Amino acid sequence: MSKPLSRLLLREQLAFLSRDHSSWGEHLDRVRSFLAEGLQVADPARPVLILGAGSGLEVPWALAPAGTTGWDADPWSRVWTALRHRCWPPWVFEDLTGGLADLAATASRSALEPWSGRRRDRESARRQLAGLLPSLQPKPHALATWIAAHRPGSILVANVLGQFGVVAERIVEAALGWVPWDPDPERADPLAEALEDWNRRSIAALLGVLRDSGAELWLVHDRAVVFSGGPLELGPWEASWARQLQSEAEASDALAGVDVPESLLGPGLELTRKERWIWPLAPGQRHLVEALAFRRHG
Ligand SMILES: C[S@@+](CC[C@H](N)C(=O)[O-])C[C@H]1O[C@@H](n2cnc3c(N)ncnc32)[C@H](O)[C@@H]1O
Repeated sequence: MSKPLSRLLLREQLAFLSRDHSSWGEHLDRVRSFLAEGLQVADPARPVLILGAGSGLEVPWALAPAGTTGWDADPWSRVWTALRHRCWPPWVFEDLTGGLADLAATASRSALEPWSGRRRDRESARRQLAGLLPSLQPKPHALATWIAAHRPGSILVANVLGQFGVVAERIVEAALGWVPWDPDPERADPLAEALEDWNRRSIAALLGVLRDSGAELWLVHDRAVVFSGGPLELGPWEASWARQLQSEAEASDALAGVDVPESLLGPGLELTRKERWIWPLAPGQRHLVEALAFRRHG
């Protein structure tokens, strides 16, 4: 990871940890008990990997089989985990998308005229970047290489998938030095759409590597973000998260339209647990969280 990318993830982590946690009790109980189950049923004879391990706020490390590896690109994540859980697990600090460095370089290039090196005006920079983004293909090479070398029996994905798009936005803003998104949600924003497509490709590529990993998979992630106030009810499980939300709430898809079961199910993997709940993250911002376990058979 380059220094600016690590610093950005560190800043995001600090912002996450400094939020008011007082209404997170139910979320933390549910996410911890889901991940606890994944750790308890893991085959202790095979490596276990926790992606998006962060500071360990959601991860019950005391239940992790010996040698369980944490993965998080925030440079302080392992130290925070050590302070919180009094353990020092093996750790990988690589970018899980494999595409953030390319994204940052492309955004920086788009801000400048190649012939003069002068800054482009904002509209041209926006257009240039929107035109270049479709050629970027994020590929989680570091993860695929780690899996091929270690052959994990279980992989837990601890609330990181929904972060890819947020981190990508911050990276583009930092590289340009200004915020390029159109504030009017009614107007078309080709750059935001191109970045949403980049996010979709990065999530799909990661799920492809997980599907082919041979490991049992325990994933928990933001499925949607609800910004409107008012009551928010969840009905019984529906394949479509939007149909399960029973209120007229305005919700945005945190996974850029990727359906996780559709991406993972196939020969050998069976969906054995599925649940969703509401996480009141901050006043006026509630997340629909999805937890899914996939076991191997055959
Ligand atoms: C919402 S936090 C997860 C919290 C964590 N499960 C815990 O228990 O503290 C998301 C985590 O994903 C990490 N992250 C985000 N994008 C990443 C990427 N592209 N590669 C690796 N880690 C990433 C962040 O550094 C952050 O720690």
